[in-house]
Amino acid sequence: MQTSQNSPSWSGPLARKEVEEMQTYTAPLEGRRKLLRLDFNENTLGPSPLVQKALRNIPQNHISIYPEYTGLREAIANSLNKQKISIPLTTSQIEVFNGVDAAIHATFHAYGDRGDYLLTTTPTFGYYTPCAQMQGMKILSIPYVGEKFQFPLTEIQKTLIDKNPKLVLICNPNNPTGTQLDPEKILELAAIAPNTLFVIDELYEAFLGESVLSKINFNATTNLLVLRSLSKTAGLAGLRIGFAIGHHEVISRISRLKGPYDINSFAVTAAFAALKDQTYVDNYVQEILQAREWIKRKLLTNNVKHHIESGNYFLIWPNHKSEYIEFSLKKEGILVRNMKGKDLIDGSIRVSIGIQSQMKLFWNAFTKHDNNSFIP
Ligand SMILES: Cc1ncc(COP(=O)(O)O)c(C=O)c1O
Repeated sequence: MQTSQNSPSWSGPLARKEVEEMQTYTAPLEGRRKLLRLDFNENTLGPSPLVQKALRNIPQNHISIYPEYTGLREAIANSLNKQKISIPLTTSQIEVFNGVDAAIHATFHAYGDRGDYLLTTTPTFGYYTPCAQMQGMKILSIPYVGEKFQFPLTEIQKTLIDKNPKLVLICNPNNPTGTQLDPEKILELAAIAPNTLFVIDELYEAFLGESVLSKINFNATTNLLVLRSLSKTAGLAGLRIGFAIGHHEVISRISRLKGPYDINSFAVTAAFAALKDQTYVDNYVQEILQAREWIKRKLLTNNVKHHIESGNYFLIWPNHKSEYIEFSLKKEGILVRNMKGKDLIDGSIRVSIGIQSQMKLFWNAFTKHDNNSFIP
């Protein structure tokens, strides 16, 4: 992650104290389009053909008219209700955002006050930290446990009781460790602290095949919000569309932090088309799960230190320095994410899982640069 720092010579108006103390959160996302992108857990094949068709057919006046959202939440609710859901969701339990990033931002803005605690795990998705910092929150990051990066349940339970955090952020399965936490355990945690809002970031739920939505009754568990996105499995990362699902009172509160037209017309059109083609997404997920098994076998049989669990990504500890492998793979046209400096996983790289032919390209390039004695 790159950062920008305050200029000491700045004599103009200062922002809020918290903002002055922050650095810009930017991910290294430039110049990636021609390469094999195994660095951001995106869909490596692209969205359903229905999405491309719908976008091509957008009439010209949709560009000059503000976006319209009629039917969008109904379409999302219908799509979710076809999955394993305990009680059918209604539209008042869903809000749509300009990507899950915007949902996370709105949630912190709505709930996080100066001095409040955010309780989360480490290592986890990076955007929770700046969102807490901009609110002036204090961050409690509990490390995953042991070589298998197990969820730190006991420590989280204890901290919930001791510190009474305002927000708990659980990424399930966790990016980047793939750690999963059972829906029952999540609900048990939420029951311990009814005044804490639990945000369950389910961006990679499709690759785990299990969601807290299959167990929750939002009328009974009012302090839990689930985040889902069309970025990864549906392949709409560039258009930015994600949603939050929760009790209608929680949804109403985070909705107040949205601008009236935060989601653009192209994203809306693409979302309708993507939601119509669940078969495309299901088939893509199946291909990734097969590729996950394939690469897992390769890693095991070749004794490569790795951790692979529930997401469309895995961690690998190369023999060489992680920056050397990152650089060498880039020269071969393959992008991966260096985990240098991250708690517990320093020295590793995170590799997104694409379809099997893409994993073969990765494996051949990796074995060529990391250890010539491997048999690809
Ligand atoms: C765990 C997690 N949450 C949220 C996001 C952001 O999702 P979106 O593209 O919907 O903003 C990402 C993106 O990488 C992620 O890994």
